[in-house]
Amino acid sequence: MRITLGVSGGVAAYKAAELVRRLQQEGHTVQVVMTRAAREFVTPLTFAALSGQKVITDLFSDSSGGEANLESAIEHIAVAQRTDLLLIAPATADIIAKLARGVADEFLTTLYLASTAPVVVAPAMNVNMWNHAATQENVETLRRRGVKIVQPDEGYLACGMTGPGRLAGIEEILAAVGDVAKAQRDLEGETILVSAGPTWEDLDPVRFISNRSSGKMGYAVAEAAAKRGAKVILISGPVNLETPAGVERMDVRTAQEMHRAIMERLPGASMAILAAAVADYRPVERATEKIKKSARPLTISFEPTTDILADVTMNKGRKVVVGFAAETDHVAENARKKLVSKNADLIVANDVTAEGAGFDRDTNVVTLFSRDGRDLALPKMSKGEVAQRILDEVIRLRVALQAPAARRSNV
Ligand code: CTP
Repeated sequence: MRITLGVSGGVAAYKAAELVRRLQQEGHTVQVVMTRAAREFVTPLTFAALSGQKVITDLFSDSSGGEANLESAIEHIAVAQRTDLLLIAPATADIIAKLARGVADEFLTTLYLASTAPVVVAPAMNVNMWNHAATQENVETLRRRGVKIVQPDEGYLACGMTGPGRLAGIEEILAAVGDVAKAQRDLEGETILVSAGPTWEDLDPVRFISNRSSGKMGYAVAEAAAKRGAKVILISGPVNLETPAGVERMDVRTAQEMHRAIMERLPGASMAILAAAVADYRPVERATEKIKKSARPLTISFEPTTDILADVTMNKGRKVVVGFAAETDHVAENARKKLVSKNADLIVANDVTAEGAGFDRDTNVVTLFSRDGRDLALPKMSKGEVAQRILDEVIRLRVALQAPAARRSNV
């Protein structure tokens, strides 16, 4: 796992050095980010030597304190993207307050806002600062947001006082990281079939009919599922996207090819998330030579393609099956109808005409309609976040689908 370790300025900063070593021993890659104050306690060189990576310090200048450059100005985004877990240890009262308020005044605080990775915070400070209502309220705010707080230990503090405020033990911090990491891999053991992109239906050797799907939503689902530990098989129509890390990709062109590929891989899958915008019709005939222009109107006959989703759910057993509904009107009504007619567990519906939704965009606005009657209207968010929410629902539905089996095996 790629862990970014944020070190803020407290006497306990030196303990983070041991943390780097132990995290690496557990097989993690560690990128250290230090606040300005932390550098008053430990030099970046210590962490650079231990982690084998350049330590990131300032937001708008290079590590030698030189001129601002574009690379360093956007580095927080790059680091955010390659962070699987953000651990801040030790976390001072000041950094906790900044995280709670969303202040982005240096690299670490900016990274916190730019990252969607889970966060573990191990506070260390004077006992009165820890007990102060301001700190306690800030800690509570972080907790509410899902941040894991590693409770500081009680004991003799550097300031000469005794009480809670000492950085928790290394074992405790590692255990918290382990818990969070495990919770992130909640799809381990699942094999998920994901379809994405459009299909191309040929008219002649140079022309085809298709739709405006970019494949971004399906690819975001495949990427998120792989990160959460699933084995992912991505059946992709023609798109311009890179294969997400750890995903097995099969490229197809037509609805017929997509149908064949999905049915072939379906028996080994425990879930299917069909995000592809499959053509509903294909030309009855594919001309073997280019259709020549003439002055007469051109009539082309189309025949329906196989409804892959309906075919997948025909013998679905305990598989969780998710379909998508791209609508331009009566979204909820049409989506609920599809939920029933296609026998799916979940329909992800979007109004493709809505602002911030639809084809070839990086954001989406969707409502998740579940078989158990729950409707979840999500605000506009990135397709990556939508993918996470779809997977959360899939896990909830999996529990419901597998419950009868568990009960049966108990008797
Ligand atoms: N779908 C499919 N096979 C098809 C057509 C659609 O598997 N031949 C799947 C899509 O992957 C999607 C869902 O069905 O998950 C809904 O697609 P959509 O085009 O919105 O619905 P249709 O059934 O085609 O209905 P309509 O076009 O009439 O809205």
